[in-house]
Amino acid sequence: MLKGKTVVLGISGGIAVYKVVELLRLLTKAGAEVHVIMTRSAQEFVTPLTFQTLSGNPVHTDLFNLHQEQEIGHISLADRADLFLLAPATANLIGKIAQGLADDLLTTSIMATKAPVLVAPAMNTNMYENPIYQRNEKILAESGYHLLEPASGELACGWEGKGKLPEPGQILAAAESVLVPKDLLGCRLLVTAGPTREELDPVRYLSNYSSGKMGYAIAAAARQRGCTVTLVSGPTNLAAPVGVNCIRVSSAAEMRDAVLQRLEEVEVVVKAAAVADYRPVQRAQQKMKKTGDELVIELERNPDILAELGERKEGRILIGFAAETERLIAHAAEKLKKKNLDMIVANDVSREGAGFDVDTNIVRFLHADGRMEEFDLMSKKQVAHQLLNRVAVLYKP
Ligand code: CTP
Repeated sequence: MLKGKTVVLGISGGIAVYKVVELLRLLTKAGAEVHVIMTRSAQEFVTPLTFQTLSGNPVHTDLFNLHQEQEIGHISLADRADLFLLAPATANLIGKIAQGLADDLLTTSIMATKAPVLVAPAMNTNMYENPIYQRNEKILAESGYHLLEPASGELACGWEGKGKLPEPGQILAAAESVLVPKDLLGCRLLVTAGPTREELDPVRYLSNYSSGKMGYAIAAAARQRGCTVTLVSGPTNLAAPVGVNCIRVSSAAEMRDAVLQRLEEVEVVVKAAAVADYRPVQRAQQKMKKTGDELVIELERNPDILAELGERKEGRILIGFAAETERLIAHAAEKLKKKNLDMIVANDVSREGAGFDVDTNIVRFLHADGRMEEFDLMSKKQVAHQLLNRVAVLYKP
C-alpha cells in the first residue's frame, strides 16, 4: 500500500520522537517516499540529521527558510503528500490544528493539504485526559482526521496510564489502512486460520505445523478494505488483528461449530486453516502410560468443514486452500470441484518460501470457471490482498 506513495511525516516535540526513527525506517522499507517536517521542539529530542539520513531527503524545519522554500515549499509538500502522518502529535500540535492555527511549517502544511492526515498522539496521561485536549481531539475526528489511540503503560515522565505512542509497527499498519481502498465496505467475511489440535490425553495432541500467518494476514487485509471480519483461529502465537472479531478454538469439531454458528451472518468464507483430517477415537481421561514397545492409536475422520459449506452454499463466496507436496494442480483442482468452491489457493508447501511458518508464499489461484493464475514469491500480506482483489470481483453487495 505504501509503495511509491509520498508520506509527509510531521514530528512534534515529545520524548517519543526516538520511536519515530524506527517508524521512518519501516515506512521507507515499505517503499514510501518520506519527507520529514520537524517542529522546533522536536529537534531538541533527535537531530534532523538522523531523519535526513534515513529518509534520503532534506528535513524541513522552517517556514521562512528561503532555501528550503525554493527547493520544495510548504504548499508543494502539502500538495505532493498521499498521506500526512503526525507522530508523535503533542497536545500542543493537536490544539493548534483544532483551533485552525498555522504558525509554523508543520501546522501550515497540515492546513494546506488535501491528503488524509493520520494523527498518533503521545503525551502525559493527565494531559491526555484533560477535557480541553479531549475536545480538541473530537474536533479533529469530526473534521475527518484519522486518530490513533495512544497505548497504555509506563510513561517517560514516570506516570502510569494512557498516553504512550503506539508501537511503530502499529502506526505503519494504520498508515496502510488509511491508504487502502475500501472496496469491500459492508462485506462480511469469515476466515479460519492456524492448525487444529486433536487431543490424545490431557498432555498430548495431534496437530500440524500451520502457524496461522496466512489466515491472520487475510483477516487484517480484509478489515483494512472495509470488511466486517470474523477470524476463527486454531491455537497460534499470533495476536488478533485490530478490529477483527477473533474466536479461538482448538479441535476441528470446535472449529466446525464456530464456523457453522456464524455462517448465516457472512457472505464470504475463506478457509485458510489446516484442519486435522483425523482425531483419536478415544481421548484418555488420564495421562497415557507407556506399556509395550509399540503403541497403535486408532483415529477416526473429522468432519470436512469446507465440503459441508460447499453443500449448503446459498450464494456465499467460498475460497479454500490446498497445501500440497506433490501433483499440486491436480489435487487442488479436485478439491475445488469436490468442495464446490469459487476459488482455491494452491501452494506447494515443500518449496522454499512457501511453507507453514514463513512470511512468504508461492501460490496459484484456480477458479471455478477453469482459469488459473500463477504468482511469483509474495509476502503473505500480498497474497491476502491478491485474494481479496478476487473477492471484490465476485462480491455483489
Ligand atoms: N478443510 C476443512 N476441513 C477438513 C479438512 C480440510 O475445512 N477437515 C479445508 C481446509 O481449510 C482447506 C481445504 O479444506 O481450505 C483443503 O484442505 P487440505 O488439508 O489441503 O485438503 P483435504 O481436503 O483435507 O484433503 P487431503 O488431506 O486428502 O489432501
